[in-house]
Amino acid sequence: MASGTSRDVLGKGLRVLGRAIREQPRIFAVAVSGSVLFGLLVIASAYVVGAVVGDVVVPAVERGSVAGGALALAASALFGISVLRVVGIFGRRLGAGYMQYRLQAAYRRRVTRRYLDLPLAWHHRNSTGTLLSNANSDVEAAWYPIAPLPFAVGTLVMLVGAVASLFVTDWALALVGLAVFPALFALNVVYSRRMAPRQARAQRLRAEVSGIAHESFDGALVVKTMGRESQETARFAARAGDLRDALISVGRLRGVFDPMLETLPSLGTLAVLVVGAVRLRQGAITVTELVSVAFLFTVLAFPVRAIGWVLAELPRSVAGWERVSRVLDATGEMPYGDVTLDPARREPATLGFADVHFGYEPAEAHRPGAEVLGEVTFTVPAGKTVALVGPTGAGKSTIASLAVRLVDPDRGRVTLDGVDVRELTAASLAGTVALVAQVPFVFDDTVRANITLDRAGVGDDEVWAALRLAEADGFVAALPDGLDTMVGERGTSLSGGQRQRLTLARALAGRPRLLVLDDATSAVDPRVEAAILAGLRAPGDAGASILVVAYRRATIALADEVIYVEQGRVVARGTHPELLATVPGYADLVTAYEQAEQEREQNRTYDEVTPVPSGLEMEVDR
Ligand SMILES: Nc1ncnc2c1ncn2[C@@H]1O[C@H](COP(=O)(O)OP(=O)(O)OP(=O)(O)O)[C@@H](O)[C@H]1O
Ligand SMILES: [Mg+2]
Repeated sequence: MASGTSRDVLGKGLRVLGRAIREQPRIFAVAVSGSVLFGLLVIASAYVVGAVVGDVVVPAVERGSVAGGALALAASALFGISVLRVVGIFGRRLGAGYMQYRLQAAYRRRVTRRYLDLPLAWHHRNSTGTLLSNANSDVEAAWYPIAPLPFAVGTLVMLVGAVASLFVTDWALALVGLAVFPALFALNVVYSRRMAPRQARAQRLRAEVSGIAHESFDGALVVKTMGRESQETARFAARAGDLRDALISVGRLRGVFDPMLETLPSLGTLAVLVVGAVRLRQGAITVTELVSVAFLFTVLAFPVRAIGWVLAELPRSVAGWERVSRVLDATGEMPYGDVTLDPARREPATLGFADVHFGYEPAEAHRPGAEVLGEVTFTVPAGKTVALVGPTGAGKSTIASLAVRLVDPDRGRVTLDGVDVRELTAASLAGTVALVAQVPFVFDDTVRANITLDRAGVGDDEVWAALRLAEADGFVAALPDGLDTMVGERGTSLSGGQRQRLTLARALAGRPRLLVLDDATSAVDPRVEAAILAGLRAPGDAGASILVVAYRRATIALADEVIYVEQGRVVARGTHPELLATVPGYADLVTAYEQAEQEREQNRTYDEVTPVPSGLEMEVDR
C-alpha cells in the first residue's frame, strides 16, 4: 500500500476531500449550511433550556405556582428550535447523500469510460477482478468520508461557537471547555491514526477474498473437473480467516476508544457542575447560565464524533482514491487522427501491412527476441480474400489485432485504402473494418441487441440479412422468442458454433469494407464454414475484402492468396496449391489439421460442443 505515514494520509485525505468539494460546491454548501444551522441551534437550545430551568422552573418551584405565559413562551421557543433543527438535519443529510452518490456515480462512469479508452496492452496487464474492484469498491471507498463531512464541518463551527459563548458566560467555565473540547478532538485523532493501518489491511483483504471467489467461480469447470474443490475451499477459507481477524482487530480498537469518547464529555459535564457550583456561590454566574453550560456539554458529545468518523474513513478513502486515480491517470491510450474515409464509399477496402514490427511489451522495454512480429508486409487487395495460415503462436491473432487497430505497430505502417490507420477517426475506422475474434463474446442480452449493438441503420431486415450471411438464420428462427431470445451471460445458452456465427453476424451487420476473421468459424461444421465464406465472397452482396485466419483446406482453397506465417515472419505466400507444393511446413500443417478434423468429425463434435466458460475455449480447441 502506497499510503505512507499517517501524516501523509491526513494530507492526502484532505486533498481528496478538497477535490470532492470543488466538484460539487453547491450541494456541499447546502449540506454545510444545514449542518451549521443545526450546530447553532444546538447552542441556542442549551441556552433556552437554561432559561427555562432558571427563569421558569426555579421561580415556579420557589413560588409553588406556574406562570402560564412564561411556560407557553418557553414551550414555543423549544418547539421552534426543534423544527428548525429538523430543517438543518434534513438539509445536511440530503446534501451529504446527494454529494456522495453523485460523486460515486460520476467516478464510476469516468473509470469505466477510461477502461474503454485504454489500449489493449493496458488491459493485458490488469485482471478483471482489479477492474471490477476499481469501478466498485474503490470508488465507494474514496467517497465514504463525504457522508459525515458536512456534519464534521458544521461541528467545527459549532465548537468555535460553543467556546466563544462560554467565554461570554464565564471565563472559568470557558477554561473547562478549552480543556475538554481539544481533548475530545485529540482523542478522535489518535483513534483514527490507530485505526488507519487496520482499516487499510481490512480493505486489502476484502479485495483479496473477492478476488479468490471470483477466480473460483470463473474457473468452476476446471475446479470441478480437476477435483480441486477442497483445495479451493481451503484457499478461500484461509483468506476469509485473515479478513475475520482484521475486522475483529478493528472492532477491538473500537471497543477501547468508543467508551472513552463517551466518557470524556460526561467528565466535562461533571467538571462544569463542580466549577459552576463554586462560581454560583461566588455570585459570578446565575442558575440559568450554569444549566445552559452543563447542557451544552452533554449535547456536544455526539456531534464531535462526526469529526472522528471523517478522520477514521480517510485512510480507506486515500487507498481507494489512489487505486482509482491509477486508472484515470493511466497513459498509453491511442489517439485517433482526423482523416475520414468517404462514408458513402461502399466498395471493399484495401488493407496494407508495410514492414510491421510488433511486441507486446512496451517498445522501450524490448528485450531482444521479445518481438512477436517482424518485417510483416502483405496486402489484401480490394475485394479479395487472403487466408492467414500458420502454427499456433505464429502471430496470426496479433496481425488481426493490428489490422483493426487494437494495437499499433512499433515500426512500420498498417494502411486502409493507403491511409495509415493511426490517422483515421474512430468513426471512420469502426465503419470500415470489423474483427470477428478468436474467442466469441456474447452480451447477456437479446439476439437482436447482440447484433445491432444500438448502431444506427441496423433494423430487423439488416439483422436477418446478416444472420443469413452468417448461416445463423436457421437456428435463430428456431429459438423460442426469435430475435428477442435472451442468450445468457457470455452466451452460455448457445453452442460454441452458434456463438461464433452470432458474432460474425454482428460484424456483418455494420457492413464493413474489410472483414477480419480470426479463426472465427472453427466450431462450425466445415461445410457450413465453407458456405459462409463462399457467401461472403459472392459478388455485390457483402462487398468486403476479407482477411481470414484459417486451417481447413476447404476454407483456404476459397482464398485468392495464402500468407504463411511462422514465428512472426511471413515465410511464404501464393495460392494454396503453390504453397502445398513448395513449402514443406505448410503442407505438414494443413495435413495434420485435416487429420485432426476427420477424427473430430467422426466424433461429431461440431456445434454440439457443450458451451464452456470463456478462457477454456482456447485450450479445448486443437
Ligand atoms: N497479450 C499478450 N501478451 C504477451 N504476449 C502475447 C500476448 N498475446 C499473444 N502473445 C504472444 O505473441 C505470440 C503470437 O500470439 P498470437 O496470439 O498472435 O498467435 P496465433 O498465431 O494467433 O496463435 P493461435 O493459432 O494459437 O491462435 C505468441 O508467442 C504469444 O505468446
Ligand atoms: Mg490466434
